[in-house]
Amino acid sequence: MKDQPINQIKTNKIETKIRDIAKEKNAIILAHNYQPAGIQEIADLCGDSLELSILASKTQADIILFCGVHFMAETAYILSPDKTVLLPNPDAGCPMADMVDPDALGAKKKSLGNIPVITYVNSSAAVKAVSDICCTSANVIKVANSIEADKILMTPDKNLAQYAAANTNKKIHLWEGYCPFHNNLTARDVTLAKAAHPKALFIAHPECPPEVLELADSIQSTSGMIKFAGESDKNEFILGTETGLIYPISKAHPDKKFYPASDKMYCVDMKKITLEHVLDSLENLTGEIKVPEDIRVAALGSVQKMIDIN
Ligand code: 13P
Ligand code: SF4
Repeated sequence: MKDQPINQIKTNKIETKIRDIAKEKNAIILAHNYQPAGIQEIADLCGDSLELSILASKTQADIILFCGVHFMAETAYILSPDKTVLLPNPDAGCPMADMVDPDALGAKKKSLGNIPVITYVNSSAAVKAVSDICCTSANVIKVANSIEADKILMTPDKNLAQYAAANTNKKIHLWEGYCPFHNNLTARDVTLAKAAHPKALFIAHPECPPEVLELADSIQSTSGMIKFAGESDKNEFILGTETGLIYPISKAHPDKKFYPASDKMYCVDMKKITLEHVLDSLENLTGEIKVPEDIRVAALGSVQKMIDIN
């Protein structure tokens, strides 16, 4: 104890307090794979958007404390309205989710002859409510193939939509949304990273632009990347995704090496939750997320349809 730095003692105290209160209040702490390391360490479960949605629909906890961004906590509430859903820092949003709204989506759907709409979970509850089905990066192809119609409108991510179009026989109409961090990755960034790490495989997230996906050895969701690296006989990987994934993937495979495709891929919103926010939220139930019941019920239709086909 004598040699332990003061900051370390303080941190340990917060972590212990969080775990004690979570137990006392029957709360489950879920964290997305991009969350800061300290947050992932105190979470009960970490995962990609699909895994976290499924967990949120099944948990027996009274409180779901979601360490991620707003749409993730909203999805948890849509699936579990009888539980208290907390987002420890309500400022944590997703710029891509803000690139579509229900009125504009309704108008575009009408202009295309009311074709079915697949909405990426990175969207508001109100947008999910006017959609036919949701998808995540892990199941977008499966979801597109599950739709009978051969013409689909996909929103909000144009890159995910182009990836789906390249891997199905469907005609997919795009919405001009994007993740500012994944969309910024260029083919040149990847070429430079490959030159620096010639033995590494390049794994890309489908939110990256098509010219980047063309260079990928594999295209995966965040948890898909962790699984792929574990199953591969290679030992080095360049990751075309938000840099937060380096922590859980290195932890899962300590014998392998992981490099970010670009340090530009840093999502500010994904880093907005601190241990202090988590403690305050659990102690005082701050950051509660709710959705009006009519919107929740309509959005549930789209989210549940997605979960049911997995
Ligand atoms: P996944 O973890 O589902 O691949 O999501 C990536 C993402 O950008 C979440 O905001
Ligand atoms: Fe949204 Fe991109 Fe951040 Fe994910 S990484 S929360 S898609 S801005």
